[in-house]
Formats: sequence, structure tokens, C-alpha cells
Amino acid sequence: MEFILVEPNYAKHIALVRLNRPKELNALNLQLMNELRDSLKALDEDDEVRVIILTGNERAFAAGADIKQMSGRSAIDMLKIDQFSTWDQIRKTKKPIIAAVSGFALGGGCELAMICDMIVASESAKFGQPEIKIGVMPGAGGTQRLTRAVGKARAMEMVLTGNFISAEEALKYGLVNRVVPEELYLMEALKLAKDIADKSPIAVQMAKESVNKAFEMPLQEGLFFERKNFYMLFASEDQKEGMAAFIEKRTPEFKGK
Ligand code: HXC
Repeated sequence: MEFILVEPNYAKHIALVRLNRPKELNALNLQLMNELRDSLKALDEDDEVRVIILTGNERAFAAGADIKQMSGRSAIDMLKIDQFSTWDQIRKTKKPIIAAVSGFALGGGCELAMICDMIVASESAKFGQPEIKIGVMPGAGGTQRLTRAVGKARAMEMVLTGNFISAEEALKYGLVNRVVPEELYLMEALKLAKDIADKSPIAVQMAKESVNKAFEMPLQEGLFFERKNFYMLFASEDQKEGMAAFIEKRTPEFKGK
């Protein structure tokens, strides 16, 4: 891996994935995205890992797709390269991913943060979809996920002007979960990750899947999907352990079985 650093044992059951192209503000070229897809797939298959933190560095989470790599391409080149199949695979990661964002999260960088399940931001984080300034528009979910997250008025303004919003605004709009001083954002993401990692990983996976369906299905079908997942969890040892621990007034020990 050239542009991605992976620490599978960052903490107990928690992996850290770092975008590592700092000179280019972690601009997302095709190789970086392929490496990210491969690392997430490997972590998704690793039973020891329950939660993944995705981060960049203090200056940039990612300043978008690599403009230099894209600039000369034709529509047919773009179609053939089919970069979004990589993004689709990343979106299918079953384990929860927490984006720990500091500095720029722009264009594809903002879209990547939004593909994650939660966002912990540093006070210096700036979110934006500035594609309009370079003659294009968001292509990896910016018009869809941003609109669902912050509502039409705000999304429209961000997408049509390309202006950035601050971490505080992102918090107010419901785009991020929390904002902390820059020196604490990774620790805060870790705290959140630990709070999830001690739960049943099967229940976490089913719950993540069900919440995501709220964006894809009409309510009745979503409720039906949720119900099936709820019933299915009664096939797990973790359900027996969790409920027994409650009754016996002790802390449950979930095994992911
Ligand atoms: C390629 C990039 C880049 C990008 C920054 N760099 N963003 N290279 N693609 N998206 C490079 C710069 O060219 C520069 O390299 C180095 O990183 C540092 O950037 P500077 O511009 O010198 O830093 P600064 O003045 O602090 O400005 C930071 C910035 C600006 C505001 C983030 O770099 C910027 O506007 N970047 C582009 C943001 C953007 O438009 N993103 C959307 C891309 S389109 P050199 O070699 O000159 O030092 C997109 C579509 C997604 O994301 C579709 C789905 C994949």
C-alpha cells in the first residue's frame, strides 16, 4: 500500500485506516481508492476487528478526487474507468466506520466522510462540495447524501456555490456527530469506537444495515426489514448473553456468535 496506512490493532477490536498522501492534501486518486477498498475489505473479514476509524491528518481528511488525474479525461474514459464501483464496494463495508475528520473534507473527501457511518470532526474541519467551481458537480453521492443529511436548502447552497461550511455549522446541520478541539479528534473517535466495540458485533452489523435501509426503502418495507433483522438476532449467542447479563446484573461479554 502506498497511500493508505492500516493499523488493524489500533485498540482492542478497533482498526485505524489513514489516508496518506499528505502533500496533495490526500487527494483521492484511483490507486488510493483501490487501496482503501482493499484495506476495508480485509478489515471487514477480520473477526478481531469490530469498528473501523477512517482518518487523514490535521490539515486534510481529503481535498477531493485528484483533479490532476481527472482533468484530461473524456466522458468515455470516465465511464470505462468506472471508479464508482470502488466506492460502491466501500459503501458495502459491514462494520461501522467512523470518519475522524480534521481540515479539508471537500468534494470526494466530503462524500467519503458521508459514506462512513458517523463523523467526528475537529474544530478545524471544513466540509464542502466545491466541484461547481471547477465546472463539474458531485459524483460520489454529494447531491444525494448531503441533501438527506442537511436538507435541501443547505445542500443546494453548498453544491451550487461550492462554499465550505465550518465544523460548528456541520454540527448544527446534523452532518457530524461531534466537534472537538483539533488535538482531541482522534481520541474522541476512538472513544466512540470503543463504545460500539464492546457491543455485540452481529447486532451492530444488523443495526447498521437497518439504519441504512431508512435511506433506501419506503417506511413499510424498512420496518419489515428491521423486524426480520430483529428476529434474526435471537439466533445469536450474543442475544442470550446480553439478556442473561442484564438479568444477572453483570456486564455482558459478547463473542460475535
Ligand atoms: C489534486 C490537489 C487537490 C485535488 C489539493 N491538491 N487538492 N491535487 N486534486 N483535489 C494539491 C494542490 O494542487 C497542491 O499541490 C497541494 O495539494 C496543496 O494544495 P494548495 O492548493 O496549495 O493548498 P491551499 O492553498 O491550502 O488550498 C487548499 C484547498 C485547495 C482549498 C483544499 O487545494 C483546493 O481548492 N483544492 C481542490 C478542492 C476541490 O475542488 N475538490 C473537489 C475535487 S472534484 P502542488 O503540487 O501545487 O503543491 C471531486 C469530485 C468527486 O472531488 C467525484 C467523486 C470521486
